[in-house]
Amino acid sequence: MIPELSNPSVLMRDPERVQEILQSMMKAGSNTIQVISDFDMTLTRFAFNGKRCPTCHNILDNSKLITEDCREKLKELLNTYYPIEIDYTRSIEEKLPLMVEWWTKAHEILVKQEIKKNLLATAVGESDAKLRDGYQLFFDHLHKHSIPLLIFSAGIGDILEEVILQAGVFHPNVKVFSNYMDFDESGVLRAFKGELIHIYNKREGAMLNTGHFEELRARHNVLLLGDSLGDLTMADGVQDMENILKIGFLNDKVDERKKSYVDSYDIVLVKDETLEVPNAILLYLTGNR
Ligand code: TMP
Ligand code: MG
Repeated sequence: MIPELSNPSVLMRDPERVQEILQSMMKAGSNTIQVISDFDMTLTRFAFNGKRCPTCHNILDNSKLITEDCREKLKELLNTYYPIEIDYTRSIEEKLPLMVEWWTKAHEILVKQEIKKNLLATAVGESDAKLRDGYQLFFDHLHKHSIPLLIFSAGIGDILEEVILQAGVFHPNVKVFSNYMDFDESGVLRAFKGELIHIYNKREGAMLNTGHFEELRARHNVLLLGDSLGDLTMADGVQDMENILKIGFLNDKVDERKKSYVDSYDIVLVKDETLEVPNAILLYLTGNR
């Protein structure tokens, strides 16, 4: 049905069930579909030419907007907490307070840096951030078919918006839930707005935005894209859901984590730096196949 599902990077627990979901969603039509996607390491690349690509936070970590001392501290936090984030031997319950610790400490350090709003665009422009290959088709096709795309990120909203803006794909069908910076009247970072979103409270984040899901309540069919097991709860706010197809990128520690990803995501993309499979699915769902 979709030849790309036979790509070597694709793993499926139950390929027949995937076909059933896809057929049901395709028959219902593109006006019943909404897409909910994580940002860092899902819409952006994990690595390029053997080198890790930055997350929203890393774009700041590597920029000229912070001092050397701050850079050291943020790197230390990354070296401490990232191995915990991807540690398959610990439960989400065990990791959750540690992730809150990571985000809280990182944001406290960033807020002390007096980062200026008008310098964010340059920091993003000078960074190595890269959307996955095929991003243009992904964003443009969703826009063309008026399919809403919710980008649900524990990264930094101001940074991720700038990434998609500079890539020319911040179309009007895109909505973002993320951590936004709070600047004072002179444009200096003073705090982060609202409730913190970290990788394991996306369910709570979704529940705070019921208005968005209310507006989209006629769209019963959800395509979910993520790279962390925490991303699986991003669609928990969707009302009257009929079908959900969950696509997970497995970027790191593949052997250890393969089983848990195949158990929880319908389609797992192993070390696949492209949006080829999600794009093939979108083309199928919109009758372009
Ligand atoms: P996501 O929800 O868009 O994937 O964003 C979360 C990612 O951000 C997660 O993989 C961890 C990463 N992160 C950093 O790289 N540096 C930091 O300081 C923090 C708090 C998170
Ligand atoms: Mg992610």
